[in-house]
Amino acid sequence: MLPCVLLSLNEYFSARRALIDEYLTQLSTRIDAPQPLQAPLRRSLTSAGKRVRGILAIAVGESVGAKAEKLLPAAAAVEMIHASSLILDDLPAMDDALMRRGAPTLHREFGEDLAILTSVALLNHAYGLVAESYAASAPRRWTLAQIVQRVVDAVGWQGCVAGEAVDLHSEASNLDFDTLEYIHSRKTGALFVASAAVGGMLANIHPASLQRIEVFAKNLGLAFQITDDVLDVTADAAELGKDVGKDAQRLTFVRLAGVDGAQKLSRELVETSLAAIEPLGAQAKPLRDLAVMVRDRVR
Ligand code: IPE
Ligand code: IPE
Ligand code: MG
Ligand code: MG
Repeated sequence: MLPCVLLSLNEYFSARRALIDEYLTQLSTRIDAPQPLQAPLRRSLTSAGKRVRGILAIAVGESVGAKAEKLLPAAAAVEMIHASSLILDDLPAMDDALMRRGAPTLHREFGEDLAILTSVALLNHAYGLVAESYAASAPRRWTLAQIVQRVVDAVGWQGCVAGEAVDLHSEASNLDFDTLEYIHSRKTGALFVASAAVGGMLANIHPASLQRIEVFAKNLGLAFQITDDVLDVTADAAELGKDVGKDAQRLTFVRLAGVDGAQKLSRELVETSLAAIEPLGAQAKPLRDLAVMVRDRVR
C-alpha cells in the first residue's frame, strides 16, 4: 500500500477513505463472476487509490446531514467509475502506461482482453450501487432518474469519454485555453461534479445549495487535473505510483503556461471553488479542507 500524503493530514478524510476501502474490499470478496474475471476485478477494487471522488460524495452528503453509511454504495460507485476510466486510459491504445497505484497496470498483469472487460464490468456495476444508495436514502426532492442522469452525463460522450477522445485526438496547434478547459473539465472535472452532486442529492440537498456545490466541484476537478499535469513533469514515478512524462505529446496547462503558470492557475481555481461554498457555513468545513488538500497535494 502506498503512503497517502494527501489524506493522512486529516482524520476526517482518513476515516472516510477507510470506510470506502472497507466497502470495496467487502464487495471484492463476493463477486459473482467467472474465474478469469475474479482476480482483475479484485485487484481493481482494492488497489490503493486516494478515493478523492468517493470522499467528495460523502463529504457533500454529510454536510447536508446524511449518514455516511447510506452514501457508501454511491461513494464506492464513483470510485469504480473512476477506476474503470483509468484502466482504459492506461491501455496501449491510449496512454500505454506501465504503472498504476504502485503496481503494473491491469492490462500488463492480466492482458488487454480482461482489462477491457473489467473496466466495463466496474462501470456497469456502479450504476446498480447508485440505485442501492438511493433506496437507502430515499431523498424527497430528487428522483433516481435525476441522480442517474448526472452520472450518465459525467461518464458518457459529453463527459469523461468526450474529454479522453479530444485529449487523444488534438493537434499541438490546438493548444489554447478553451480546448484545454474542454478536455480537463470533461476527462476529470465531470466526475468530480457528479460525485459531489450525487452525494448532495442523496442527502436531499436544496437546489440552490446544489448549484454552489457544483461550481465548487467543477473548479476543484479542474485544479486537480492541472496539478496532475504539473506532477507529471515535477514528481517522480515511485512517489506517484504511476508513470511520469506521459503528457509530453499532449495538450496540457503546463505546455501552455509552464509549471509556475499552471500551479498559479490551479491555486486560483481552488480559491474560486472555496468562494462558491462560502455561504454554506460551518457544515461545509470538510469541503474546505478537501479543497486545501487538493491545492497542496504532492501525489
Ligand atoms: C488520476 O486520478 C487521474 C486523474 C484524473 C488526474 P487520481 O489521482 O485521483 O488517482 P487515484 O484514484 O488516486 O489512483
Ligand atoms: C486520466 O487523465 C483522466 C481519466 C479520466 C482517466 P491522465 O491520463 O492525464 O491521468 P494519469 O496521469 O494517467 O493518471
Ligand atoms: Mg490520459
Ligand atoms: Mg494517463
